[in-house]
Amino acid sequence: MIPSVLPTYARAPLSFVKGEGPWLTEADGRRFLDLGAGIAVNVLGHSNPDLTAALTDQANKVWHVSNLYSIPQQQDLADKLVAATFADTVFFTNSGTEACELAVKMARKYWYEKGQPEKVEIITFSGSFHGRSSAAIAASGSEKMVKGFGPVLPGFKHVEWGDHDGLHAAINDNTAAILIEPIQGEGGIRPLADQELKDLRALCDDNGVLLILDEVQCGMGRTGRLFAHEWAGVTPDIMMVAKGIGGGFPLGAVLATEDAASGMVVGTHGSTYGGNPLACAVGGKVMEIVSDPAFLADVRKRSGLLRQKLEGLVASHPDVFEGVRGSGMMLGLKCKVAPADLVKAGYDNLVILVPAADNVVRLLPPLNLTEDEIAEAVARIDAAASVVGADV
Ligand SMILES: Cc1ncc(COP(=O)(O)O)c(C=O)c1O
Repeated sequence: MIPSVLPTYARAPLSFVKGEGPWLTEADGRRFLDLGAGIAVNVLGHSNPDLTAALTDQANKVWHVSNLYSIPQQQDLADKLVAATFADTVFFTNSGTEACELAVKMARKYWYEKGQPEKVEIITFSGSFHGRSSAAIAASGSEKMVKGFGPVLPGFKHVEWGDHDGLHAAINDNTAAILIEPIQGEGGIRPLADQELKDLRALCDDNGVLLILDEVQCGMGRTGRLFAHEWAGVTPDIMMVAKGIGGGFPLGAVLATEDAASGMVVGTHGSTYGGNPLACAVGGKVMEIVSDPAFLADVRKRSGLLRQKLEGLVASHPDVFEGVRGSGMMLGLKCKVAPADLVKAGYDNLVILVPAADNVVRLLPPLNLTEDEIAEAVARIDAAASVVGADV
């Protein structure tokens, strides 16, 4: 008999009843150190008091009003995002997938309004992940994602990650945009080098192509800058954001320059819940905390410590690990063993890790993990690796 919850997830037999900072308490009372943070969502940990206050304050005022009216919390968050980034304008969504939908629509509409309606093709990369809607799976293009779901939405061209010649060859008069994650998350924590992102920006400029960055997983302070592309000193035309921006409350956004957004006039897009007062009240508080330069400096310092300790861990388990990669608090342990085995051993040692493609186990902890918690996290992964290593 089919479960009452549609069985699309391979769930671990864990059920958490309470969260506090980076700690999650299981129904049986065991306390887990959460290095997954809801897959890069709980940037300030669980039940952060500032976020709880922002949410409950707003809940006591008004929960939901339609986008037929102006929403002050939405305006406030949009102003904060515009002030802190390349963007001139923001549309709020409920998820990263919806942000992908709009980013694709926006890029195509841009060229349509410029009198070049043939420019509809979006170039994407192998190993990418942009969500699960029809456009997002077409963007990713992997067989695993699209097989069985009928005609794949046209207008996407896929290039191998790292294939520079292939990328140049893929651009033609029909290219509307290049869509890329500055650090692939689901694809196995595969970062684009700063120079590669710079070259990509130049390539887009030289060829009249929009650059869309998907910072759903790597954005909102995760790399120690508010957004990952800041490290390269270049800016996109359009950016997808979600996950961390709501700190655990469903919220996403598309940020864009005035020019890139120019086709999106009244009536061209909408969302009932997107930019809802509860979500934006929380998002506003997340932005206030995470965009603080002192907070980001702390993320850089502590993530440096985490990385250093992980390098030591890798060195002491050469049969289990190949190396560490990633940036800030978005780190991947490239494994020689099956990532699922390490994740399972992690559960047994009360630490939560997240598997990714390319034989990688991900660490995406809350950004405010303390030095003591970092030491504890690495000790627990060490214990898990010892168990897995003993079986190699
Ligand atoms: C880079 C990236 N883009 C888009 C998405 C889709 O976001 P959501 O699951 O909120 O729809 C994800 C989710 O993992 C992601 O990692």
